[in-house]
Amino acid sequence: MRTLDVEAGPTRYTITIGPALIGDPHACAARIPGRDHLVVTNETVAPLYLDKLRAGLPGRRVQACVLPDGERFKTLATLERVFDALTAHRFNRDAVVIALGGGVVGDMAGFAAACYQRGVGYVQVPTTLLAQVDSSVGGKTGVNLPAGKNLVGAFHQPLAVIADTDTLATLPPRELRAGLAEVIKYGCICDVGFLDWIETRLEALLACDAAALTEAIERSCAIKARVVGEDEREHGLRAILNFGHTFGHAIEAATGYETLLHGEAVALGMLCAADLSCRIGMLEPAAAARIGALLTRAGLPTVTPRIGAARAAELLRLDKKVLAGKVRLVLLDGLGRAVVSDAYPQDALGAVLEERFA
Ligand code: NAD
Ligand code: GLY
Repeated sequence: MRTLDVEAGPTRYTITIGPALIGDPHACAARIPGRDHLVVTNETVAPLYLDKLRAGLPGRRVQACVLPDGERFKTLATLERVFDALTAHRFNRDAVVIALGGGVVGDMAGFAAACYQRGVGYVQVPTTLLAQVDSSVGGKTGVNLPAGKNLVGAFHQPLAVIADTDTLATLPPRELRAGLAEVIKYGCICDVGFLDWIETRLEALLACDAAALTEAIERSCAIKARVVGEDEREHGLRAILNFGHTFGHAIEAATGYETLLHGEAVALGMLCAADLSCRIGMLEPAAAARIGALLTRAGLPTVTPRIGAARAAELLRLDKKVLAGKVRLVLLDGLGRAVVSDAYPQDALGAVLEERFA
């Protein structure tokens, strides 16, 4: 079992990573405060892990809210079901919500906790690789609107993150690969040594090797914890974690959130951002090719859906990082050095959109 501390503004919490954590009172009851819990989960994860989690919380009052599965249910309407469950079971301010599932469940449970009675505590128990390396850490919570992804939300840090690596054994291989896109992202933005390591251990990661996955999760969380520790509310540095996400969110919106998984869209987005970085002379073409080769080996898509350059440009302008009408993008000033910029020439962006989306 490994632990990492996150310090985000005035909040401090521990990420625990390891096998057999769900179901173990030393890992769960000891790290989840309070007596009253609403476990927010979904209809896929509940049959796999809900009873196990209950066993890890002896003597607690544990109720469950089982949501439908899928990004399309990450909505205000679904959120109401969580509030209904909280009120039906008469939970008050000392209740602790537990998010048991992937990033969709984690974002919704965290947002519900941020809002219910103006804020109750919550704990993340992530069960996808993507959630274990990214979404469960850092306190971004929220839901989608028809106009775009994560457009309503709050920063609300969890009280603890408990990442049980055994849960990855039941994860569909495609979901594991989508999680690897975010792992590769960390290497690209700030740690070439980690990128070297991922290249060496990729087969082990794809084969769900426990030691390799644990190391990938720990190194990813360490990077995320450092960045969030420096810039919890994304006034600057934290935006680098969105490498590939601006293009990726546009791709997800254009394809209706159903065709591609979030991590797959991020993989495509990273290639767009790397391409733009090359066109403006910040990144060697060989470095962009290296990212492409790694994503290909990881079984991630590398060919962007042809949604049209104009539609892509329009969707980019919906990004939350747009300031004064300018689309700020995370680019690579060399491999391992991400920068946030709106100073790229528009014709270079236009060329990327034409080549990859038209
Ligand atoms: P997800 O939550 O949809 O989970 C993927 C699928 O795996 C779902 O069908 C789920 O039911 C299933 N599943 C989960 N755990 C399982 C297990 N152990 N065994 C079998 N099946 C399992 O998707 P995700 O990739 O985990 O998360 C994507 C979401 O996370 C997106 O909504 C994205 O916006 C959000 N996100 C948030 C942040 C953040 O900082 N808050 C960061 C990155 C992504
Ligand atoms: N996934 C981006 C962030 O947490 O800031």
